[in-house]
Amino acid sequence: MSLASGHKAVEMEGEELAEQTRLFPGYQHGMVRLSPGGWVFPSPYKNFADKIYNFKYRPSDVMVMTYPKCGTTWTQELVWTMRNNPDLNHPLADLSLMARSPFQDMDMLLGDLAEVTNDNNPLYEVFRLQCPGKDPADGLMLQLSEAIPDPRTIKSHLPFSLHNPALLDTAKVIYVARNPKDVIISYHHHSRLIKVHCFRGELEDFVKYFVDDDLVYSPYWLHVKEAWEKRHHPNLHFVFFEDLKADVMGELKKLNAFLDTKLTDAQLTNVAKHASFMEMKKRKAFAGEGEAEMGFFNSEVVKKDGGFFRKGESGDWKGKLTPEQEAMVNKWTAEKMTSFGINFTYSV
Ligand code: A3P
Repeated sequence: MSLASGHKAVEMEGEELAEQTRLFPGYQHGMVRLSPGGWVFPSPYKNFADKIYNFKYRPSDVMVMTYPKCGTTWTQELVWTMRNNPDLNHPLADLSLMARSPFQDMDMLLGDLAEVTNDNNPLYEVFRLQCPGKDPADGLMLQLSEAIPDPRTIKSHLPFSLHNPALLDTAKVIYVARNPKDVIISYHHHSRLIKVHCFRGELEDFVKYFVDDDLVYSPYWLHVKEAWEKRHHPNLHFVFFEDLKADVMGELKKLNAFLDTKLTDAQLTNVAKHASFMEMKKRKAFAGEGEAEMGFFNSEVVKKDGGFFRKGESGDWKGKLTPEQEAMVNKWTAEKMTSFGINFTYSV
């Protein structure tokens, strides 16, 4: 199937598909790989790809773009708070981030829509309020991304090449990258935690899938490369998770200039505190109250290894990856990541 982006979506078949669905039984509707690029997605991506590619942006939009687990949620909360709530008095600040700053390409991951479109799902309630008369089958999160009031802060895990080519000339994009070893540990946890992935393999399998560019939203290196090459565009701000961890106020000052939000140091301090790991964890800011009830999370994993707000640190991979796995990722980094000049200062 040809997509508006110029890519071809090719269904995975045979042993490759069998192995994917054995390790990730959450992907119940098949898998596709795009050419060129090799991007991997659950097959329902095809239903939304062209609509996402043709999404109409406005100059007041800000997109937070990342490969999964690079600090999207933290950055979204920082940006949304800077733009809407720097004095911490916004009445909707406790609403789930998914509702305030929708995940544009999430629909392909939602699986069985009937599990989502029920009266117990607060996100569906927000959809019905903000998108009256719209059919969730046309993209619950995609249409919510369109419908939220200006100024819109939109999240996407898709790389630049799958977005509207006018995006960067129209709106502002904040791209967040993170040390791939921490991404692996965090994505592994996430894939076990979130039922739509339902990862059943070992960390060993996951590392292999990562370096072979076989995980959903992979290849990681190409994702980062596409953004890195555009880093001098005035509408693109490139951030590293590690820099946010090391000096959040310093990074907020840069964001303040990029977003032209003109916040005072006292307001930036408010923002940093409100979006701190412990505060966001306390507020359950990712999915809002009732994240477990929304059915997204595997409660056994939550009990044993924690929920969405797992650790929030740099370097947590140490002691988790075996020396062999570390060597495998180092080899991959040397081959793929460093070839275009990116320097993960905190990666060793
Ligand atoms: P860990 O699994 O290493 O803890 P994303 O939002 O892109 O899915 O990234 C999630 C990662 O960012 C998780 O990493 C999560 O704990 C971490 N995170 C979320 N909010 C954070 C915050 N306010 N400060 C630091 N890390 C945060």
